[in-house]
Amino acid sequence: MSRVLLTGGTGYIGSHTAVSLLESGHEVVVVDNLVNSKIDSIREVEKLMNAKVPTYIGDVQDEQLMNRIFTEQHIDVVIHFAGLKAVGESVHKPLEYYQNNFDSTLVLIRTMLAHQVNNIVFSSSATVYDPANDPERVEGMPVGNCSCPYGWTKFMIEQIIRDCCHAYPQLNAVMLRYFNPVGAHPSGVIGENPLGIPNNLMPYIQQVAVGKLDHLNIFGNDYPTPDGTCVRDYIHVCDLADAHALACDYLLKHEGCCQEINIGSGHGVSVMELVTAFEKANNMKLAYQFAPRREGDLPIFFANADKARELLGFKTRRSVEDMCRDAYRYQQKQSGKE
Ligand code: NAD
Ligand code: UFG
Repeated sequence: MSRVLLTGGTGYIGSHTAVSLLESGHEVVVVDNLVNSKIDSIREVEKLMNAKVPTYIGDVQDEQLMNRIFTEQHIDVVIHFAGLKAVGESVHKPLEYYQNNFDSTLVLIRTMLAHQVNNIVFSSSATVYDPANDPERVEGMPVGNCSCPYGWTKFMIEQIIRDCCHAYPQLNAVMLRYFNPVGAHPSGVIGENPLGIPNNLMPYIQQVAVGKLDHLNIFGNDYPTPDGTCVRDYIHVCDLADAHALACDYLLKHEGCCQEINIGSGHGVSVMELVTAFEKANNMKLAYQFAPRREGDLPIFFANADKARELLGFKTRRSVEDMCRDAYRYQQKQSGKE
């Protein structure tokens, strides 16, 4: 058993990862400044798992706070989720994105090393891949040419971590490149409920399904794909969470590692297929219309998932139907509260 610190742990992926870690016998500690989440998610995790999760409310850029956490808690592994993540917003607020995402990482690694905490899992993204690559993304492919400051923060933080692993050989790192995380815990008590109008497909569908939004706009139906809509690799957030628990186990067994690993299902699903799956899984009709292409969207990309299987023993277990059912259940519970 090990104790894992989740920076950004009250967020969408962090809270689901807390459940997976507790299920697999780890202890969990959280630090989050609540800039994009509420403390309630961790309270729900505690109830669900009948466990205590020490939670520090504060900023990872605050070196004093991070020193205090590493002094008070005996941490074995850090999973670094904390960061700003909205693609569009990052174009308008590059300074905020570079400052928050870089400074939190620099302070975190500095304080980790000072306290001999040597294992880090970093939340990277499929967005680091050069868009010019073949659609099936393999870890060794070229990265860069990112489409927004958010993407560049992931690209640069990966490089910072590689440089640190080289300079401080005691540091072990796994950088997980997530594809498109969706869905919610089957209990419906934690999930993704963005503030304002959602940018991403599944949260938008969820809000149309409960009547909060009128209809879905499908951005483009003239792409060179089988049904003309864009293809992505959707992964159930609980599968993604399980990958983090496996990454922690991997780090604890492999000194001197520094690995980039795709976390996706390995299968492409089109926007239209996701809409149809949602309707079928929840026995309902979704209002939608076709709209012009969204700037910057690639027609198709999905993960090559071989490395995750080979190194971590990771394989997705939940289907697209599970993603749709669990996402809807969570949204229904949320709208009961609103
Ligand atoms: P989220 O916004 O729900 O979670 C991030 C958490 O970090 C939030 O709770 C926020 O309050 C916190 N935070 C931000 N800056 C902080 C700081 N300086 N100090 C302390 N806390 C801070 O997002 P998420 O979807 O759970 O994503 C988690 C990580 O995964 C992010 O780094 C994100 O970029 C990355 N990622 C997400 C996706 C996705 O589609 N959700 C895809 C690829 C990568
Ligand atoms: N889409 C719609 N209507 C909507 C929202 C999205 O048709 O209202 C379409 C998009 O055009 C795209 C697909 O649904 O074809 C998926 O879009 P998302 O915004 O859900 O996801 P993206 O693949 O664009 O973005 C995701 C993450 C980013 C990350 C990027 C690249 O949200 O953080 O993958 O890895 F940078």
